[in-house]
Amino acid sequence: MQKYSGKLAVLYQGVGDIQESQALADRLAVPLYESLVNDCPESFFLSWREGCLKLLDKELLKKGGLVVDISPRNGEQRSWPAPKQDALAQALGRKTKTVVDATTGWGQDSLHIFRMGYELLCIERSQMMAELLVDGFNRLTEEEWMRKLNLKAPKLLWGNAIELLQTLDVPPDCIYLDPMFPPKRKKSALAKKSMVVLRDLLGDDQDKDRLFEVALNVAGKRVVVKSPDYAEPLGEKPSESYQGKLIRYDVYLKS
Ligand SMILES: C[S@@+](CC[C@H](N)C(=O)[O-])C[C@H]1O[C@@H](n2cnc3c(N)ncnc32)[C@H](O)[C@@H]1O
Repeated sequence: MQKYSGKLAVLYQGVGDIQESQALADRLAVPLYESLVNDCPESFFLSWREGCLKLLDKELLKKGGLVVDISPRNGEQRSWPAPKQDALAQALGRKTKTVVDATTGWGQDSLHIFRMGYELLCIERSQMMAELLVDGFNRLTEEEWMRKLNLKAPKLLWGNAIELLQTLDVPPDCIYLDPMFPPKRKKSALAKKSMVVLRDLLGDDQDKDRLFEVALNVAGKRVVVKSPDYAEPLGEKPSESYQGKLIRYDVYLKS
């Protein structure tokens, strides 16, 4: 289990019941502050603001903060299911019905996969990210279009996918992996703030080779790995690759 002590705290800013913030701090074993003390050692804060659980760093405290964004991506059709036509859909495959996202993170790929109508299970090992995802998925369930279509948000498992994948009763058609790769340069102007914060808090995923090995064993039909376009493939030569903007989806088909 990840330890956040000295890095993360919960900040209660008068929104909702303080007991809820206290319970969150207890679950994560981090302090709860009711106002910011200048010399507090933590650089990251979880706080309820504007109906969302937000992650803030000292730079973001006065600005918005980061949330699991449940709104459709730019250009994504707003009806459900959205058409399966981009590089990710091609990589997932036309015959794929069930997908496990074993590295859910901010849930942006997961939500895109969900909106395209795949049956999706999400796994995330960071408890802090799992808390943010639960908040995002709860907000998703409350969306009018979700209610109208009688849809439920994807199921989320908190834990290490290396272990959890091996406990699945039915192999999913596809396992999707987007682990954290070391950056090309120390500071990239192109890196998204949400990913920079994630890297600062969680570090690179050093065990991604093992995760890939397990995913390949467990998947019913294929494993899809998203990686930066400069990175070497996780496995040997992929069966297929699809190019996105600055990223690549490597597909490993099971024979
Ligand atoms: C680059 S982020 C994923 C971003 C995500 N695709 C999105 O759209 O927001 C990688 C995430 O995978 C998680 N992760 C990495 N290895 C994992 C594992 N073995 N089991 C579960 N989660 C894992 C990390 O904690 C991190 O949150």
